[in-house]
Amino acid sequence: MSAAPETLEAVLADIIRRWTGAVKDRHSALHTPVVSSVIDGCPASRIMVLRAATADGTAFRFHTDARSPKAHAISNGAPVSLLGYDAQARVQLIVRGKGRVETESAATDAAWQASALSSRRCYLAAHAPGTEVDDAISGLPDHLLARAPTADESEAGRANFAILQIEASELEWLLLTSCGNKRAVFHYVNEKWQGQWITP
Ligand SMILES: Cc1cc2nc3c(=O)[nH]c(=O)nc-3n(C[C@H](O)[C@H](O)[C@H](O)COP(=O)(O)O)c2cc1C
Repeated sequence: MSAAPETLEAVLADIIRRWTGAVKDRHSALHTPVVSSVIDGCPASRIMVLRAATADGTAFRFHTDARSPKAHAISNGAPVSLLGYDAQARVQLIVRGKGRVETESAATDAAWQASALSSRRCYLAAHAPGTEVDDAISGLPDHLLARAPTADESEAGRANFAILQIEASELEWLLLTSCGNKRAVFHYVNEKWQGQWITP
């Protein structure tokens, strides 16, 4: 385990290194953070796969079904947070910001093009996520239950595919240690992260 960061600058670098590293590291707990939003006035949380995180710590990307309740609720600018805990490093990270769901942008097209056929399969379900059904069904067509779609077959899913972009305005870091925990928060002001130690 690397030495604990001692300065706010080092903490910010640690936060960004953890999030950006988690995009490609399937074994990192931060690869599948809890994404929270508000649906009909109630808190709503779910696990999502982190697809991209920028090196300046301001933007995060996820993929989702455009028909899902969260996609409708977040739409363009609703508050969203990310929460992850790296149990090995004993570091909890939180991101707060606003979400934007895109279905038609160049970024959405690029994300769809880069998606594996096995990932595209999720978007071929007949019904919107959360639809009440009589049996425990996935909603996928029978012929795709046991295999990924071909590229041609997958294209029908594009209409249901969306990206969730999160524009971060606050980053939080909490480190648990046996000799006292440490916590810091960063606010994005005038295009810079401004850090502050806070009590754990
Ligand atoms: C390991 C794991 C990864 C998941 N990844 C995603 C994802 O990338 N995008 C997504 O929309 N849902 C993902 N889900 C499903 C969500 O947690 C959730 O059940 C679904 O999106 C419906 O959420 P909603 O009703 O709040 O819209 C994942 C679930 C698990 C357990």
